[in-house]
Amino acid sequence: MSDNASAVVLAIDGPGGAGKGTVSRLIAERLGWHLLDSGALYRLTAQAALKHGVALDDEPALARLAESLDVAFIAEGGETRVMLEGDDVSAAIRTETMGECASQVAALPTVRQGLLARQRDFQKPPGLVADGRDMGTVVFPTAPLKIFLTASAEERARRRHLQLQEAGVDASLPSLLKDIQSRDARDMQRAVAPLKPADDAVELDTTELSIPDVVDHIQRLLEDRSLIASI
Ligand code: DC
Repeated sequence: MSDNASAVVLAIDGPGGAGKGTVSRLIAERLGWHLLDSGALYRLTAQAALKHGVALDDEPALARLAESLDVAFIAEGGETRVMLEGDDVSAAIRTETMGECASQVAALPTVRQGLLARQRDFQKPPGLVADGRDMGTVVFPTAPLKIFLTASAEERARRRHLQLQEAGVDASLPSLLKDIQSRDARDMQRAVAPLKPADDAVELDTTELSIPDVVDHIQRLLEDRSLIASI
């Protein structure tokens, strides 16, 4: 087995707004591991489609785009800049609209297939934190620790609302809740790689937990399984 293939993978899956992104980034920073934000790849595919005038139901063209995406993730002072074909799209891919478009392209089997090898390339020593919907079920099925993070839809909408308010964006809580519920439904009901916990995943409901509590809890699980040294 190559060094890369034997590097430890921590798979963190769950619905949008459960805290996966923040938790994954903090754990990767704490351990000095690589980070895969797989949702960004689906958002980038949707962004590339928009840029090149590809319809969101043109599966063959979207699959070609996914496979040949020209992207770069550039770490810069605690932030990661996301580049598409040389343009900084860090903010553009994070809008609610792009999240919705990403969810549509993510339902297409050949798009998912087109992004598979690229995701697996992130597995490298000293380890990888992989954040997504199907990290533990499809992309890294042999990951030695799989976490499924959840929180009630109401709590996730409240968190998103707060985040948008902090960014100076006006949004209505009821419409955010509706969007979250419809995106959950699409992500859970799609035929390929639906959002669901792997059989061997540890489920963690973060509705009542703070981000540092969740990070500490996952760190203890990694220690208990001897995947990292106890501190
Ligand atoms: O995590 P996110 O909001 O950036 O993800 C955007 C969309 O991409 C989301 O609706 C689900 C989809 N997605 C997916 O299907 N599989 C992944 N591994 C990650 C995201």
